Amino acid sequence: MADPATPSPAAPAAAASPAAEPATPAPASPPAAPAAETTTETPAAETTTATPAAAAAAAPAPANTGILEADDVVEAEDDDSALGTPGDASETTSMASFIYRYREQHGRTYHAYKADGEYKSYWLPNDDRENERLDLQHTLFMLTQDNQLFTCPAVKDKPLRRVLDAGCGTGIWSIDFADDHPETSVVGVDLSPIQPTFVPPNVEFFVDDLEADWNFVNDFDFIYARFMTGSIKDWPRFFSQAFSHMYPGGHIEVCDILSPLHCDDGSLPDDCDAQKWNVLLLETSLKIGVGIDSARRYEQQMTEAGFENVVKVEYKWPMNSWPKDKKHKEMGIWSNMNMTAALQALTLMLFTKVLGWSVAEVEVLLAGVRKDFKNKEYHAYWPIWVVYGQKPE
Ligand SMILES: C[S@@+](CC[C@H](N)C(=O)[O-])C[C@H]1O[C@@H](n2cnc3c(N)ncnc32)[C@H](O)[C@@H]1O
Repeated sequence: MADPATPSPAAPAAAASPAAEPATPAPASPPAAPAAETTTETPAAETTTATPAAAAAAAPAPANTGILEADDVVEAEDDDSALGTPGDASETTSMASFIYRYREQHGRTYHAYKADGEYKSYWLPNDDRENERLDLQHTLFMLTQDNQLFTCPAVKDKPLRRVLDAGCGTGIWSIDFADDHPETSVVGVDLSPIQPTFVPPNVEFFVDDLEADWNFVNDFDFIYARFMTGSIKDWPRFFSQAFSHMYPGGHIEVCDILSPLHCDDGSLPDDCDAQKWNVLLLETSLKIGVGIDSARRYEQQMTEAGFENVVKVEYKWPMNSWPKDKKHKEMGIWSNMNMTAALQALTLMLFTKVLGWSVAEVEVLLAGVRKDFKNKEYHAYWPIWVVYGQKPE
């Protein structure tokens, strides 16, 4: 995998890449806020730190709210919201043609680049429905982080020369970052060419596989990876390659959702469809080597790769608008839309191909899951963990 040392102005939106130059413009795609909370396994937001002093110097973790209090007013369903709905709920030019030849199954399309057999590489679709959802999820993430694109103290001391958005999806984070930091060259890498064509001059997108050897010509000051759980099989190698391709003093930040659903007050029955689905999804992802509980291991893996000042910040995405607190109620509305829209995308490929279910069997389970997602008596949430660290100077 590689990229040109300096992005050209009016850069092409995407290129098939390992070890090479951008080749082909990507098709336009539909692109795109607070206080952290919670505490799941770990009370109050925090911080595991290799070096306490350095951690203290790092950006303060957002304030957590601990256990979320449920709203005693249980009103209409979240999808009545005025917020609206998220829609339906190596290297040469010749490569360009096949990376657009997406695989199709059950009415959804999947990436073609390095698609070595159905679910064996990334198993979520790359169609408009999924891309709209990714952009909706970005909005939810911005709400979660009080409108900050990242949490670590990356731009605190000096401007960033180069930033990598690893698994950039629709490129929405890369584009927002590039707009905020015109002095920085932003490189977005993804298996799918789903980024827009018209982008800020300081952004370039490449189609490539982050699990292959990284051959970037220049290193990075900041490497960002969001919602890559279920995508990367070998996280220790990911962190090790990130370490090798980072300038001394550079930062890495990885953000992910953790399955299965959590609940602090016992109101979520283990045998409800939502939790049965989420546990089975986790088990199936573990079976194929891409456990969607990977965030649990990031702190340790980042530290073992050589990063220091490793810090973890925890947030909660309520399953719907059940919390009393206004911000979490709003996050719950967005989170409900996000997961409802993600449900089929997350399930279809894995349950049919790995578990051998029929599409009808999947849809029956998902109907029950959708119903549970709306149930405000279930005070459930998904933990969202942000883990960041720094390469020693
Ligand atoms: C859930 S999406 C997250 C996208 C983006 N980071 C965001 O937060 O909106 C995961 C993305 O990772 C990409 N991906 C999965 N495996 C990959 C790999 N091995 N190399 C590069 N990209 C990959 C997928 O194509 C998809 O766009």
